[in-house]
Order: sequence, then C-alpha cells, then structure tokens
Amino acid sequence: MQLKEEDIMTLDEAKQKLQGYDQLHVLKYFNELTDTEKDELLNQIEETDFEPLSKKKNDAAKREITPIDAYTVEDIAKNAIEYESIGLDAIKEGKAGAVLLAGGMGTRLGCDGPKGIYNIGLTKELYIFECLINNLLDVTKKADRYIHLFIMTSDKNHESTVSFLKEKDFFGYPEKFVHFFKQEMAPATDYERHVYMESKCRIATSPNGNGGWFISMRKSGMLDIVENEGIEWLNTFAVDNVLQRICDPVFIGAVIKNGFSSGSKVIRKADPSEKVGVMCRRGGVPSIVEYYELTDEMKDAKLPNGEYAYNFGVILNYLLNVKELIRIEGNNLPLHMVEKKIPYINEAGEFIEPSEPNGYKFESLILDMIEMFPDCMPFEVVREKEFAPVKNKTGVDSVDTARQLLIKNGVVL
Ligand code: UTP
Repeated sequence: MQLKEEDIMTLDEAKQKLQGYDQLHVLKYFNELTDTEKDELLNQIEETDFEPLSKKKNDAAKREITPIDAYTVEDIAKNAIEYESIGLDAIKEGKAGAVLLAGGMGTRLGCDGPKGIYNIGLTKELYIFECLINNLLDVTKKADRYIHLFIMTSDKNHESTVSFLKEKDFFGYPEKFVHFFKQEMAPATDYERHVYMESKCRIATSPNGNGGWFISMRKSGMLDIVENEGIEWLNTFAVDNVLQRICDPVFIGAVIKNGFSSGSKVIRKADPSEKVGVMCRRGGVPSIVEYYELTDEMKDAKLPNGEYAYNFGVILNYLLNVKELIRIEGNNLPLHMVEKKIPYINEAGEFIEPSEPNGYKFESLILDMIEMFPDCMPFEVVREKEFAPVKNKTGVDSVDTARQLLIKNGVVL
C-alpha cells in the first residue's frame, strides 16, 4: 500500500489517540520498524475504531421479553397472490435493493478465504455466491428488471471476493448492478481489553460485526446510489444461507400492504434449544433475542394453544425501509463481546496461535436494529424451502445438511 505523507497521522497524534483508550503498548516496537511499517501502523491506528473498547456490554436483556405473534405460512398463503403483485410492482419501479452481508470470517466453517467462494457442488462446481445469484436471478427474471446488489466485505476478504466474482463474470448478473463496500474493523483484545498485536507493526483486528452495515454503506458512498436510484427498501441477508430468497416479492408486498416499516423472515425452530435468534417483544416493541439470552424457562414456555411461546427463529433476512434506516443511523447499537482465539505476539515478540479462546472480538449485530424500527412484521417461511445455512464443517447447519436441502429443492449439485 502506497501511503501519502499528508494522509498519515503523526506519532504524537497516534500516542494521543491510544492514550485515550489505555492502549499505548501498541507502539512498543515502533522504533524497530522500517519507515514503511511505521506508516502502516500509524495508518491502522488512525483507521481503527477503538470506541468499542470503552463501551459497556450489551444491557438490552434487562427489559422484559414477551412473545410476539407472527404472520404464519397459512396467513400469508391466503393473500400471496396480492402480496406478490404488490412486491413485483415495487421491484419493477426500482424501489427494492439487496444487501449481501459477506464481511464475516466464517471461522466455524474454517475455509480459507470468503465463505461465498466455497464450492458446495458434488458433480459440478456450484459456489455459495452462485447459489445466491441464481436465487436473485429468479426474481429479476420474473420482474423483468435487475435489482442493485450491494455486497459488504471486510479488509480480510475484500480483494478475494471482488476478484472471484469478476473472474466468474458475476455468475451472469450484470456488473453495473453490483456494488462492493467494506465494513469497519474493530481491535481484538485480551480479557482485560488490551489490544493484541498480530505482528510488531499490526494490531490484531476483526470485522466489527454485521450491525455496522448501514453506516459503512453511508461512509463508502453506497447510500448515494440508493438515494439517486430511488430505492425505498433494502433486503439485507446473510451470505451462508444457500436457499436464501432475495427480494422475495411476496415478502416485500406483505410488508408494504400491511403498513410495516420493516420485516423479518422467520422459521419455526427445529427444537426449543436451536441456536437461532428469536423474534419477541422487548419492553413491548418487536425485537430479537439472541439464543444465549433465552433462559431454559423461556425456551420451554408454552402458549395457551400448546405451541412454544418463543418459536419463531430469525434467518437473517430483513426488509428495511430506507427512510427509517436513515432516521436511526445515529443510534448506538449494543456491543457484543465474543470470546475468540486471537493470534498474537507475546511479550518476547513471538507469534502465538492459541488453541483455546484468549480474548474478545467486539461486534454490533443487525438483529439489534429491529427494535429501533417503529414496527416489524415477523413473516414465516417454510424452513425446508428457505433455510439451509452453511455454518459448520460437519453436523448441524453444515455443508452436508445444506447439500441435502438443496437437492430436496431440486438444485442439481
Ligand atoms: P455469522 O454470525 O455466522 O459469522 O455471520 P461469520 O463470521 O460468518 O462466521 P463464524 O461465526 O466466524 O463462523 C452471519 C452473517 O453476517 C455476516 C457474515 O458474513 C454472514 O453473512 N457478517 C458477520 C458480516 O458481514 N460481518 C461481520 O463482521 C460478521
């Protein structure tokens, strides 16, 4: 990276910034570095957001959590034709955009490089990105109009994501409708919240969670495209659900017709302990509770009709009104601290790759945005048709289970 002298913060400015967060040790090896390494470190100090280190942990759990009613598959089926027609009209008028969150590290899957470039095919190549683009093409063909697709990457996977998709000619999607932007990075720390160094000239960082996507869209200029193109709704979704329906016209139409400002696709949980966020009300407003916040009592709680009270899991597929997103843009999202294995250099300057978690990464999550909207429509979908996440190498939510579900849905692998 070629940095211009005037673009880089001075050593004094760096010291001042670090001192404010009690992180001066980041400069421990500064005098040993080459000029290029010094510039790179100063640049990283300037770009890194240390604010999460001084924030308190998420306290959202303190407000009372109660069950929420969802629009069930049966409810939706009754009006599906009307919803679809409203949704297709919105797409035809250019009012819908898609945002693919692909900045994660995919540590559980343990693949080298971005998750989207994972080849899930058996007898032929079929990449995760390809599955998603095929699903989007189903809708654009029906609407006879392309949809702008914004792809969020991070420092760790940006180049490989862009070059892969270019090499594959965007799997037939027109390049001018694809826009990349990078999310911010947050420092990774030990248990005392002291930043780890991954080398003498580099702070250990990781992507700051999927909650910062809208701010990153603003910072990268993507919001100008959204506004100039008249996009009113953004369908934001995860990279790893290969059955993900993108800009589903029935979903868009249902949210519009019923006057909601946001919607969340939900599925019935496979069992009360399934590790998915759950739609609920928190302090009375629609919200999402992370699976680890649900007590055993809540997991097993039943409604008078005998159904589980907290049974609608989210699949990270949201429809969000752009005006509302802009209104809540400045709101602070709660901070989530996730225990992780963080490679670092020790006191002696040796590189260590820990086999057990040794600290925290700091994340904000998109699911925390939902309760900032005036309302949210919980929109149930059939899980076997729309939920095939690739999270783990084997077992639950793995490549194997996703393959089985793809085959069930008629996809040739
Ligand atoms: P996950 O919570 O599954 O995280 O992300 P991950 O990083 O992909 O995987 P693990 O936990 O390390 O195994 C859910 C979605 O949010 C995106 C991911 O790319 C995925 O689409 N994400 C996650 C981001 O875009 N940025 C992040 O910082 C984290």
